[in-house]
Amino acid sequence: MSEGSPLKSETVRQFFVSQWGVYERMVKGNLLCHQELFNALRDDLLRLPTHFSLLDLASGDAGSLAKALAGMRVSRCMAVDLAGGPVLLAARDNLRFRGIPAEVKQAEFLEFVSTPPKRAFDVVTLSYSLHHLATADKERFFQGVARWVKPGGGLWLIDELLPAGMGRAEWLPLMLERLHRVGAEIYSPEEWAEVDGHITTSDFPESVETYGRMAREAGFANAATRLLVGDGLLGMMRFTR
Ligand SMILES: C[S@@+](CC[C@H](N)C(=O)[O-])C[C@H]1O[C@@H](n2cnc3c(N)ncnc32)[C@H](O)[C@@H]1O
Repeated sequence: MSEGSPLKSETVRQFFVSQWGVYERMVKGNLLCHQELFNALRDDLLRLPTHFSLLDLASGDAGSLAKALAGMRVSRCMAVDLAGGPVLLAARDNLRFRGIPAEVKQAEFLEFVSTPPKRAFDVVTLSYSLHHLATADKERFFQGVARWVKPGGGLWLIDELLPAGMGRAEWLPLMLERLHRVGAEIYSPEEWAEVDGHITTSDFPESVETYGRMAREAGFANAATRLLVGDGLLGMMRFTR
């Protein structure tokens, strides 16, 4: 269980709208191991039959996803993000540039998956955002998203993770220390203050055991830890229906 109380999604949205450039540099510097994790996602997606459909929740600009999908045939693609505006337009452009027929939608992803879909997707991806929700809302997320994944399809979750037996109070200083060590050069002291403040108030990871339990209770047949990186503080899980 994570400790503390997550902020409202509007506060998280404001952070990403105002600090998108700061987050972009974090991705570019690979502070959150985007490269390793999206390479692993690409490996998994390459094994699927071509022309799969894909829903990306909390897409941001979908830059890493678009690269991971390069050369693949995607029949239908929707990117959803609360930020809207230039971030979501960039997601549409990044995906379309790679030949992915992307539609975009501004929405809060928990509300979005709480409504039953007209058509479910083969693949649902969610990277670096589930940790913003409270534990009970993460459970509601799994209950909702299970309906958006076709039987036989999967949900790929890339996110911060609590190593087994570790609480958030222990995880937080380790995560901050790791970011400062890996990315020492990329931010000014003021920017580090923004980053540290966001993580301290908004990041509430869970363990792979907790996510596995939530997924199984929501009807997923299988939960697998695909890759752990960044001293075990980050990783990718795959949940199949
Ligand atoms: C850390 S970025 C991750 C972006 C991208 N998925 C990636 O892998 O780099 C978090 C993104 O999630 C969006 N976001 C955060 N909370 C959200 C929510 N509750 N509903 C929809 N989008 C959300 C933010 O606007 C931001 O674009």
